[in-house]
Amino acid sequence: MSCFSCFSPHRKDVSKVENDYGTRSSGSGRGKASSDDAEIGRGKGKGKAGNGPKNSAARSFTFRELAAATRGFREVNLIGEGGFGRVYKGRLESGQVVAIKQLNHDGLQGFQEFIVEVLMLSLLHHSNLVTLIGYCTDGDQRLLVYEYMPMGSLEDHLFDLEADKEPLSWDTRIKIAVGAARGLEYLHCKANPPVIYRDLKSANILLDGEFNPKLSDFGLAKLGPVGDNTHVSTRVMGTYGYCAPEYAMSGKLTLKSDIYSFGVVLLELITGRKVIDVSRRPGEQNLIAWSRPFLKDRRKFVLLVDPLLQGRFPVRCLHHAIAITAMCLQEQPTFRPLIGDIVVALEYLASQSYKPERYKDGVRDAPSASPSQENKDVFTRKSDRRSSLSI
Ligand SMILES: Nc1ncnc2c1ncn2[C@@H]1O[C@H](COP(=O)(O)OP(=O)(O)O)[C@@H](O)[C@H]1O
Ligand SMILES: [Mg+2]
Repeated sequence: MSCFSCFSPHRKDVSKVENDYGTRSSGSGRGKASSDDAEIGRGKGKGKAGNGPKNSAARSFTFRELAAATRGFREVNLIGEGGFGRVYKGRLESGQVVAIKQLNHDGLQGFQEFIVEVLMLSLLHHSNLVTLIGYCTDGDQRLLVYEYMPMGSLEDHLFDLEADKEPLSWDTRIKIAVGAARGLEYLHCKANPPVIYRDLKSANILLDGEFNPKLSDFGLAKLGPVGDNTHVSTRVMGTYGYCAPEYAMSGKLTLKSDIYSFGVVLLELITGRKVIDVSRRPGEQNLIAWSRPFLKDRRKFVLLVDPLLQGRFPVRCLHHAIAITAMCLQEQPTFRPLIGDIVVALEYLASQSYKPERYKDGVRDAPSASPSQENKDVFTRKSDRRSSLSI
């Protein structure tokens, strides 16, 4: 959650939590993400209430309650650690299983992020945003209590997989991309005023038991520009590698900064490579730089694909997914697409599920359009989007 926090976290195997709380499993579920939207503040819009506890207000917990829930923050219940602090699995007195995040530094930055997180998640409610159940501000302690996401983060399923862990299928990757895009669309288009997320990365995309994604960590989120303003000027925060170049250089934050980060996540989903990976050989450590020549030449698109997919992906959909990715990663922010258009394009790809018998050896009839034509076809006029996606 902190500035360039990708260098800080110590990760832990999430499968080693206490058995009686249930363990994380792998596999690729096919549940359908719903999109219950609610309006932030008093703004116009649907303002649908959503279902279950999603829209119930975050409640205050005592430190004692959370210590009891995690059995004294036992090491065995530690499920992760990020820039903000350690994350434990716990069970509330009500029986509800939760994730409890404990702030590990009492500096101003961490405290501010804590407040922003509570405020944002108290106002924002969507099926692709993680639900904040409560918080604790006992003495110096600052803790956040979230719904528990049994599959952990997207990062846990993409990188450094253990030999016995099933890699994400193509369909599951697209499903995750669609859900994450819908969460971002809610922040950009349905929240009023719009919210710039600023910390979109695979570590912040959490997965439920059916691989439905939910965006998490809103401590860096900013209310977007209002009126005639095109950007918000702010200190450069975020995670190295995911930050849009113009924002990193000028501090000018726009909704398009999030679109760049979304492009980075798409590239990680396609390649199975981390945006920054110092364990790779020189020339391959920065995913964006490494992928550039491949993104420019459609004959090389298949060379980008995660080898763990073993050729099990529809080539036409891959071409379109790469076209969307390349547009999100444009240097010039105004050339990047709007999130609403990305959602529609990805939803179309999600409707084209991979069928091995149709796409034998990952190769079907290759698309005939030129790359530039293909890019144009992915994003078409709003009124005619679905029909004119030339797949
Ligand atoms: N609500 C949750 N449910 C389950 N696991 C979680 C939850 N929140 C965080 N985690 C786990 O804790 C790890 C660290 O989370 P976080 O503190 O947000 O770190 P980061 O800075 O990497 O985003 C995540 O990668 C994930 O594995
Ligand atoms: Mg996080």
